[in-house]
Amino acid sequence: MRHLLSIADLSKIEAISILDTANELARVSDGAVKKLPTLRGRTIVNLFAEDSTRTRISFEAAAKRLSADVINFSAKGSSVSKGESLKDTAMTLQAMGADAVVIRHSASGAAQRLADSQWMSGSVVNAGDGTHEHPSQALLDAFTIRKHLGLGKSDLEGLSVAIVGDVLHSRVARSNVLLLAKLGAKVTLVAPPTLLPVGVESWPASVSYDFDSVIPFVDVVMMLRVQQERMTEMYFPNAREYSRYFGLNSDRMKSMKPGAIVMHPGPMNRGLEISAEVADSSRSVITEQVTNGVSVRMAILYVLLTGGSLEAGGN
Ligand code: NCD
Repeated sequence: MRHLLSIADLSKIEAISILDTANELARVSDGAVKKLPTLRGRTIVNLFAEDSTRTRISFEAAAKRLSADVINFSAKGSSVSKGESLKDTAMTLQAMGADAVVIRHSASGAAQRLADSQWMSGSVVNAGDGTHEHPSQALLDAFTIRKHLGLGKSDLEGLSVAIVGDVLHSRVARSNVLLLAKLGAKVTLVAPPTLLPVGVESWPASVSYDFDSVIPFVDVVMMLRVQQERMTEMYFPNAREYSRYFGLNSDRMKSMKPGAIVMHPGPMNRGLEISAEVADSSRSVITEQVTNGVSVRMAILYVLLTGGSLEAGGN
């Protein structure tokens, strides 16, 4: 595996191997000495051409815990925001000796373009491209689900997951549907018809417009942020209407199965898609997703840059 561009490119075995490697690396992160020498002397560039806090610092922490040198290249004020082409950027990264580039970009397909360019020889990790994919988020979500509900099994066979809200604009939803289905989970997308993309029928998921009829039967409720910044028209009448039908509040949470968990990739719109009580409740694993993100991104960089994986039970 040279790049991580899309979940579609990963086999089930490769995905599970990343999760197992993350598990082993998490044991290191839990210890007193958080750092491994594995990527000493390697250079990882974080190229963030779109706003991000948690994903960027998560990749930065992951690279540093593996002892890599990290260069943060944010778009605001950089030549990328001045319209420099991806090709010119790639040539600059190559000249800096980047072994891997973690890219976030507002254009769907930007990571693929960078990987396809003849101008850079390093690995490319897609950290979110437009509304297309966000594979590291899906992997950290699967890792979190496996930890809570996987009962030690390697995949997610038999689990039911609802992904709720602004599916239309969500790269998190796209990557999660692909990965969860690959790992054997049953996925239901819950959204108003206006927030579902054209062609959703061909996704490996079922669709419902009725949150209340789905919620009692799922093991995981994954809430999505309403992405106001990508909305160019009215997708729902008003915020109160949206929350009433598609928000997760404590009343609705009461109908969840015992042991079922609540997830959200962040950043949250508290009071819109999720209430503060739910976000801070004992069912919520939202801060744990952030913690697990570092181990999973360590595993991604480890697998891409060393070509190996760490199997469960190994040293
Ligand atoms: C997501 C993203 O940027 O796609 N956030 C993240 O990576 N933590 C989801 C979102 O912005 O809603």
